[in-house]
Amino acid sequence: MSSPRPSAVVVLAAGEGTRMRSATPKVLHAVGGRTLVGHVLSAVAGLEPEHLVVVVGHGRDQVGAHVAAIAPDAVAVVQEQQNGTGHAVRVALEGLDSWGAPDLGPGPVLVLAGDTPLLTTATLQSLVDTHVGAGAASTVLTAAVDDPTGYGRVLRDPATGHVTGIVEHKDADDAQRAVREINSGVYAFDAVALREALGRLTTDNAQGEEYLTDVLGLHVSSGLVVAAVATDDVVETLGVNDRVQLAEAGAILRDRTNRRWMREGVTIVDPATTWIDADVVLDRDVVIERNTGLHGTTSVGSGSVVGPDSTLVDVVVGEGASVVRSQATSARIGDGATVGPFTFVRPGTVLGPKAKLGAYVEAKNAVVGAGSKVPHLSYVGDAEIGEGSNIGAATIFVNYDGVEKHRSTVGDHVRIGSDSMIVAPVSIGDGAYTAAGSVIIDDVPPGAMAVARARQRNVEGWVERKRAGSPSAEAAARARDAASTSGPASAGSGGSTHEETPQ
Ligand code: UD1
Ligand code: CA
Repeated sequence: MSSPRPSAVVVLAAGEGTRMRSATPKVLHAVGGRTLVGHVLSAVAGLEPEHLVVVVGHGRDQVGAHVAAIAPDAVAVVQEQQNGTGHAVRVALEGLDSWGAPDLGPGPVLVLAGDTPLLTTATLQSLVDTHVGAGAASTVLTAAVDDPTGYGRVLRDPATGHVTGIVEHKDADDAQRAVREINSGVYAFDAVALREALGRLTTDNAQGEEYLTDVLGLHVSSGLVVAAVATDDVVETLGVNDRVQLAEAGAILRDRTNRRWMREGVTIVDPATTWIDADVVLDRDVVIERNTGLHGTTSVGSGSVVGPDSTLVDVVVGEGASVVRSQATSARIGDGATVGPFTFVRPGTVLGPKAKLGAYVEAKNAVVGAGSKVPHLSYVGDAEIGEGSNIGAATIFVNYDGVEKHRSTVGDHVRIGSDSMIVAPVSIGDGAYTAAGSVIIDDVPPGAMAVARARQRNVEGWVERKRAGSPSAEAAARARDAASTSGPASAGSGGSTHEETPQ
């Protein structure tokens, strides 16, 4: 049987979340690559509700802006004063009315809190299915927990087992407090019956609030059907109230996500230290080594190995690539490319197929063409490197003149000598070479060898004259003696008289 779409889903997110002790509203704290409310809205999206309302209050501007960004179809309704969950739902429905949707469709109205990031679409769907199947006015998702302290307790008729109502912890007597079946705070309601009961709520209770939970008791006393779905996965109903629970929810999400990818054919060597955000996409036969985080919109192609000790944020990795002990953000790593160890790949970096960024290399806003290599100790900032080129160790693309950034280009099959400074803006033609230690400030034509450094000059005997008595001078003297006793045929280094004038 297919259930109707919910006519509306109401997400409650007006509370302060005091126990987070944070300047950030509670529902905007993130785990697994999404905010708490982001996870809730994602689970809800799977139900395709006709209307989606988020009740905001504390931090309304921030929460409202975030909801608008991630769920453009959602309507944020402001609850000026947090007079209770029942009041919040009333305000939500009044908000919908004023948005021109007074006549909700036949589908149920779902209510849930914005701080339950572990709820799944499947569980919400089974709540809807049970609700519709039972012809219920209200249906609540419940869970049996070891320590029900603080939760509302689900009351049932001892003879029939039917739900008779919910009593809040603060209003419960000892017998009621002994009940371990708790209200998870997730409900499906018949829209008409919900409106009717909300109009009859009072604040006659321990907290002086309009309790949404009282709707169920009102429905029972009106002779309407009230149902319950008891979930066997208690963690789904876990609400985050402080940073300890935030970390707990994060760890549960991590395990859930890792298991999903392992079942899809990804090898995760150490799931306990592998953190994969909700929107990451992995192909089959990807290998994730230990202590690795894949975040944001990162995707990794088949056969690639990432880690150990690596963090990728919004990175597209092709097939058969390797990223070892490195950090990369907003970059593309081509098929068969290699990165690391100890490489810092900053936004705008694009590595072509089989390109390489080796140890202690930093790249930013740089294109490295197919098969080109930057193997050691270099900075490649604001540069375009063609195909098959080699950038010698310790080369720096000098992109900043102290005021502005400039871009340099290097052609195909270029050989940049080690320890070169490529002072932008400069262009090095196809097939050109540069001598090691050069400071390149002018364009180099294709095929040329650019030499931009002082010629070496050896000042003979300098150490023995200027550093007399030092171990260096003594070593030099011994070498000189050895050269003179071994005769003039010797090619000892001390015999060299080569000296050239600097350029
Ligand atoms: C509520 C339930 C309780 C249930 C528990 C599950 C009521 C009266 N009690 O208790 O039975 O076991 O959730 O976690 O509903 N909110 C608003 N506006 C308000 C009040 C609350 O938007 O005026 C929001 C909060 O931000 C939160 C959610 O509603 O997201 C639940 O409110 P909270 O105060 O945490 O309810 P509990 O006292 O925990
Ligand atoms: Ca409360």
